[in-house]
Amino acid sequence: MSEIRRLGILTGGGDAPGLNAVIRSLAKAAMTRHNIRVVGVMDGFSGLVEMKTRELELGDVRGILPRGGTILGTTNRGNPFKYVERLADGSERVLDASAIAKQNFERLGLDCLVVIGGDGTLAIAHRLMTEHGLPVVGVPKTIDNDIAATDRTFGFATAVEVASEALDRLHTTAESHHRIMLLEVMGREAGWIALHSGVAGGADVILIPEIPFRMEPVIAKVWARQNRGCPFSIIVVAEGACPKGGDQVFQSRDETTGWKRLGGVSYQLAPVLKEKTGLEVRVTVLGHIQRGGTPCAIDRILGTAFGCRALELVLAGRFGHMVALRGERIDEVPIEQAINRLKLVDPAGQLVSCARSLGIVFGNENADEVLDNE
Ligand code: F6P
Repeated sequence: MSEIRRLGILTGGGDAPGLNAVIRSLAKAAMTRHNIRVVGVMDGFSGLVEMKTRELELGDVRGILPRGGTILGTTNRGNPFKYVERLADGSERVLDASAIAKQNFERLGLDCLVVIGGDGTLAIAHRLMTEHGLPVVGVPKTIDNDIAATDRTFGFATAVEVASEALDRLHTTAESHHRIMLLEVMGREAGWIALHSGVAGGADVILIPEIPFRMEPVIAKVWARQNRGCPFSIIVVAEGACPKGGDQVFQSRDETTGWKRLGGVSYQLAPVLKEKTGLEVRVTVLGHIQRGGTPCAIDRILGTAFGCRALELVLAGRFGHMVALRGERIDEVPIEQAINRLKLVDPAGQLVSCARSLGIVFGNENADEVLDNE
């Protein structure tokens, strides 16, 4: 067992409701139960490269449980192995700053680093450990719920709540105006938010990245509803959904890091639906509303439990591991198991089958078999 006197903690990648719950539980337990100093590394790994840190006191983590975002700040441009440096003339260059990150870790007198992030952030943590010997412990995070090796991530439940509420609101206006309402939700490679909110919000069609769609069954569903006197439909689309044989729609691409901002697939579907059904169509892109704001109770509990378990891993010297929800238990798994592969929706899984049996269309059905129940 290693002697831990000072631990660093950072949040990387996109934020997720529940991050502050992790920071709070880990910092509180470390300071009050084990007399460990906790250093907040600001803005993800860029704080380690640029020495932006802040020693946390108990007062810093008081009252943050219901707060969205992360008190430590975050970025998805902080990879020390491909560090983006802004030059005086406004241009950018990419360099390997991982040795600087290692030096700064030592200068800060840290005994270990707890890294809270998605698969990209966890992959960086893993590399810092294998290539530079940094003792790291991981905590998985993403609203998309697509990290392998954990059953759930915090932030997902809040995102599903927000999207489900949006669907309830869209339902009433869709019905009043006899319109098709498209709700575009987050989910780059995995359609968990679309699937769960679609089921919770009584959607008629759910389009997810795991099931490439064709327009014919979607149009058939809208017609089936019209034919039984329901001239309105609710369609949930994950931002990463794409037509069979087609590509994902993205708004922009970061030239330096290659990061694509997805979004806009619904705007491509809307004119086709209008033309083929004769109904008016409206699009709502929910965007970062799903990520911001107060975490729901489930995410606060999961974040709190992850934070406590992460501290246990630190105290036991289980570096290179991350916490993971397995059933009802918070387990530990090697970080390697969570990177370079995603946890995707099984197109033949229970919830998809259940949705299909209710008549929900996923876009890969034979159009002449599409029914509207009731
Ligand atoms: O990975 C989480 C996520 O919320 C994705 O669903 C979404 O595509 C992305 O982050 C948006 O990231 P950004 O904050 O860079 O716009």
